[in-house]
Amino acid sequence: MSADSTTGPAGNDRDGSLHGARFAARASGFHPSPVRAVFEVSMLPGMISLAGGNPDLSALPMAEIADAARTLLVEEGLDALQYGSGAGTETLRQAISEVMAIEGAHTSPANVQVTAGSQMALELVTTMFCDPGDVVLAEGPTYVGALSVFEGLQAEVAHVAMDDDGLDPVLLQERIDEVKSAGKTIKFLYTIPNFNNPAGVSLAVHRRQAVVDICRAENIAIVEDNPYGMISFDGSYMPTLYSLDPDNVFYLGSFSKIFSPGVRIGWVVAPEQVRGRLQIAAEATTICPSMLSQMLVVRYVRNFDWRDYVEKSSATYAARCAATMAALEEHMPSGTTWTVPTGGFFTWITLPEGCSVTELLQPSIENGVVFVPGIAFYADGEGTNQLRVAFSFEDESMLEEGIKRLGATIATLAAGQAG
Ligand SMILES: Cc1ncc(COP(=O)(O)O)c(C=O)c1O
Repeated sequence: MSADSTTGPAGNDRDGSLHGARFAARASGFHPSPVRAVFEVSMLPGMISLAGGNPDLSALPMAEIADAARTLLVEEGLDALQYGSGAGTETLRQAISEVMAIEGAHTSPANVQVTAGSQMALELVTTMFCDPGDVVLAEGPTYVGALSVFEGLQAEVAHVAMDDDGLDPVLLQERIDEVKSAGKTIKFLYTIPNFNNPAGVSLAVHRRQAVVDICRAENIAIVEDNPYGMISFDGSYMPTLYSLDPDNVFYLGSFSKIFSPGVRIGWVVAPEQVRGRLQIAAEATTICPSMLSQMLVVRYVRNFDWRDYVEKSSATYAARCAATMAALEEHMPSGTTWTVPTGGFFTWITLPEGCSVTELLQPSIENGVVFVPGIAFYADGEGTNQLRVAFSFEDESMLEEGIKRLGATIATLAAGQAG
């Protein structure tokens, strides 16, 4: 079924005659995005997908994890299959505070709220802080799933441009002044400082204090989304914004990239009173995070050499990134530029002058390679000459072939523009 084939059994279009007038106003914020269609194309047999940012789970010690899951059920099944605390289990919250300390972010389990992935954490924070029409500042480009949350909850997005050093503090200040002088309320800055999805760049260490200071002075909270911080190709970690101003930063973390997205375990760190409010809102949606998943994650963190796994998978991603960079050098026509990531899953490509990414998508799919068009990562229609390439999932030879085909398609498009 395609993303927009929603005809029900009685023949009524779901948005149409029967229920159409009943939808709440906010429902219009939740609509199938063009990205969904791209992801469906990426499943077609023979298609090289540079679209989905899935982690490669092939190096997970699956037999041992299966044993751990079995032992968990045998030893603690009555708890694992039961309801639990809305905040998350004490043992997991403790483990999360230890995981965060590895990146230099020190917090107490009392500040940790466990969620179903960091996606839910972002939804919770936005629900609790944004009224319709409130403004969220976000990097341009930014994570498409964050844009879905903001749009769904009727928050406006004001983008702040990045360069190779990430968010520019001067432009951040300018944007704040602009939004405030338009009489609007800014609730928070949403930022992915490490190995940004989709841009592949990181906020330079020398800019971090400036970003934190500006937000403090302007009375704007920061939502720091850091799912990729440990996927660092040289093994070094940058200081979290949370460590620079724990009272003003809500920190979002996730096990999706360092263990498994399937367990759906993420978290948000917030000052204690705020965390308590977030828990009440979370309970209204999920009652409690999955006990089974939480307890499996605790076993993963306690009983496995998970840091070795993260190191090995980061080396895999680094090799794939290097292959992607080499293929881009070899196959992209002149005038094409791209970012050079030092971690994470993505590089961000800008097409030669005059080329449109919407015109590129169809011929590219016909050539057997799919990517996500840049417009998906902006709330304001920007990104028409840009695209995201994910190098996390395909192996080196597929990446090389995919970039080769993409380069040829761009060259044809660019030649058409010139001619
Ligand atoms: C920047 C960013 N934030 C949040 C998420 C959601 O992650 P989770 O699986 O923890 O919900 C993703 C997933 O790709 C992401 O890239």
